[in-house]
Amino acid sequence: MNNDISKVLVTEQEIVQICKTLGGKITKDYQDKQPILIGLLKGCMPFMSDLSRQIDLKFDMAYMSVSSYHGGIASSGDVKIKMDLDISIKGRDVLIVEDIVDTANTIVTIVELFKHRGANSVKIVTLLDKPEGRLRPFEPEYVGRVIPKEFVVGYGLDYNEYYRNLPYVGVLKPEIYNH
Ligand code: PRP
Repeated sequence: MNNDISKVLVTEQEIVQICKTLGGKITKDYQDKQPILIGLLKGCMPFMSDLSRQIDLKFDMAYMSVSSYHGGIASSGDVKIKMDLDISIKGRDVLIVEDIVDTANTIVTIVELFKHRGANSVKIVTLLDKPEGRLRPFEPEYVGRVIPKEFVVGYGLDYNEYYRNLPYVGVLKPEIYNH
């Protein structure tokens, strides 16, 4: 699996540090609140697991399965809810946990949906932000690392469902998706 990676962008050690830093900020900012962390599956899984253990607050967690890539390396723009939340978020302070914000198609759609459902506040924490990929304006409140416009995998991010279990974030060799 490691042979398919041309370059490591965010190392395991850097990810540990990012989770500590973001966890500390979130703990401070939500001191007087009881947020709900909502992870967007499947990509959020490792980040949500590591980040949540760095947040020193009483909070609950929920998951939603959303997909816009349907395999391949480009967003389809068509955001599908494959599994919805099993709780109401009316009046709640929602913190959405994402692995990456790229075109922002996914996150803009979900933020609008959560506001429509009556959330008190909706903020985003994302491990990676790829601002050059934007098709719609959007700025996440908490960002682990800004990355260039390259197709990355690992630590939750996939290519055709593979590589999510890499412990770091890396650039996939183009020959893997060009053949
Ligand atoms: C990925 C990622 C984000 C979204 C970001 O999900 O987890 O949710 O794409 O891209 P965007 O900003 O261009 O919308 P994907 O649709 O691949 O589903 P997955 O999490 O199951 O891999």
